[in-house]
Amino acid sequence: MKHLVSINQLKFAWPGQAPLLHIPHFELAAGESVFIKGPSGSGKSTLLSLLSGIQRANQGQLCLLGNDLTQMSGRARDQFRADHIGYIFQQFNLLPFLSVLENVTSALIFSRNKRQRLTQPAATEAKRLLTELQLAPELWLQPVHRLSIGQQQRVAAARALLGRPELVIADEPTSALDTDNRAAFMRLLFNECQRQHSSLIFVSHDSALEPHFTRVLSLSDLNKGLTC
Ligand SMILES: Nc1ncnc2c1ncn2[C@@H]1O[C@H](COP(=O)(O)OP(=O)(O)OP(=O)(O)O)[C@@H](O)[C@H]1O
Ligand SMILES: [Mg+2]
Repeated sequence: MKHLVSINQLKFAWPGQAPLLHIPHFELAAGESVFIKGPSGSGKSTLLSLLSGIQRANQGQLCLLGNDLTQMSGRARDQFRADHIGYIFQQFNLLPFLSVLENVTSALIFSRNKRQRLTQPAATEAKRLLTELQLAPELWLQPVHRLSIGQQQRVAAARALLGRPELVIADEPTSALDTDNRAAFMRLLFNECQRQHSSLIFVSHDSALEPHFTRVLSLSDLNKGLTC
């Protein structure tokens, strides 16, 4: 397989709305890290939801690991995402009344694939990730709704990284972090991605982070949707 992600003539509109995305061509090699920027409302989160199979494109091809997500059922896309993607959502999507550790290990519930990739017990690996993200052990058994927003963001990151997914997708993952935590977060994210040969697609407004990445793109460079 040549590319981890390959997009051809992808088109998407939200129901009842004007076309939002038309991406003639985009490819991502395994191991690449891409920073995507663009104004609020331009469709960055929408593109990530297509890349992860949460939404399905109206037309075109979107291949991940050689599988065309536009040809798969919703259920098959959900399984594919659970097995191959770690997603840090803009709104975290944590389970508020479950503990920090339960939230992190929830990444494994629906994926035998991720469970099999662990080289140590799930809780041990989860604790390693939480420690590297500077989340103290006193927090591990707390329900996540008691954590600050910046702490919750790091729990979401640990959940996304657990089980060594081929692709990590991060939607504004540093927006609630202070400078120190942001630096620790980026260090962990890049270390983990390198360690597990994960590719990274990262959306942010924070241009100070651009030098970390192998490629920096504006959504407007990819998207011809608004001009046709
Ligand atoms: N679930 C949805 N249903 C209908 N329309 C949506 C939905 N999510 C997003 N949109 C619309 O799609 C457009 C792009 O939204 P999107 O969230 O992708 O932008 P964004 O670039 O991620 O913005 P931000 O930087 O503020 O996060 C907006 O006009 C928005 O109203
Ligand atoms: Mg967004």
